Amino acid sequence: MITDTLFDITKASESRIADVDLDAPGFGREFADHMLEMEYRDGQWQQPEIKPFGSIEITPALNALHYAQSVFEGTKAYYVDGSTINLFRVQKNYERMARSCERMCIPTIEKDIFIEGIKELIRLDHQWVPEKEGNTLYIRPFACAFDPIISARVAEQYRFYIITSPVGSYYERPVKLTTTQQYVRAVKGGVGAAKTAGNYAASLYPAQQAKKEGFDQVLWLDAEEHTYVEEVGTMNIFFVIDGVLVTPSLRGTILPGVTRDSIIELAKHWDMPVEERRISIEEVMQAGKDDKLEEVFGAGTAAVVAPVEEVHHDGQSVTFDIDGRGPVGQKFYKAITDIQYGKAEDPFDWIASVKID
Ligand SMILES: Cc1ncc(COP(=O)(O)O)c(C=O)c1O
Repeated sequence: MITDTLFDITKASESRIADVDLDAPGFGREFADHMLEMEYRDGQWQQPEIKPFGSIEITPALNALHYAQSVFEGTKAYYVDGSTINLFRVQKNYERMARSCERMCIPTIEKDIFIEGIKELIRLDHQWVPEKEGNTLYIRPFACAFDPIISARVAEQYRFYIITSPVGSYYERPVKLTTTQQYVRAVKGGVGAAKTAGNYAASLYPAQQAKKEGFDQVLWLDAEEHTYVEEVGTMNIFFVIDGVLVTPSLRGTILPGVTRDSIIELAKHWDMPVEERRISIEEVMQAGKDDKLEEVFGAGTAAVVAPVEEVHHDGQSVTFDIDGRGPVGQKFYKAITDIQYGKAEDPFDWIASVKID
């Protein structure tokens, strides 16, 4: 075991990388050789350990399984060359995780453990970062309650993990979205802005219903009036209406996406008109009818920019005859991925490069 200042490190005796096809790794099925684990007990986080990835033993009474006191993050590592792997805005992921933890009563994790932990894992498992463009090493930090007690109360024990997984591109084709009048994702005062397990569990049934009707994802509307657009399954949503980029404002019910923020910053940098505001589904459908809805795309870490080919609402559809991203979505996709892969200047200081010896 090596102990550096922050982590106790136990290296895997043998790598499993030969068993994995990094050109076609799927999504979230294969995991790199190492993981970070840190326990919280006796009122504090203990020494974090980096060790071989593997199963953990839990009791069926584990309270996180029953009451979902659990938060997570998602970011990616990008292969630049044999000596450099890039991370994109992990500080933002840390800040969001800290806010999610606060909302879910999980003790805050130190910033250095989160950020240096990711870097240390990348240094150890750099060979797991796929070289094929579009493929990346997905990084999943998460924290959850770890009391062996079935009681719906704030836990006394927690675990924090970081695991990493080589992944291919997420959405390969344009997506079809539908609204629903029956279900909602998040309510004001609820946990919509936190990246917490229950939000995803709650969205499964409506998403399954949407799939049965031939759509890929639900375009969520606000819970009070079923009028204003919120976001999509695991993406924020952008509309290009009459040359203006419009995205719903953050009002506590939407996940504040890192990609969303990056697109807004880029748009401002390019002097492209951009509005963060409430946008009703009626406005979207009307813009479609008036031929003013130029593009719709989702924005998130997994896909970066995912083109939308259909927005369906209340028996009507706006469709786009596309087989890839539209020009605006493509411009953002290229700008962001070029920065991520170290092919373009990084005027916003978004990149942290991990050097490999
Ligand atoms: C509900 C939800 N909205 C939006 C996003 C996009 O966020 P980001 O750009 O940080 O990946 C995600 C993905 O993390 C998500 O799960």
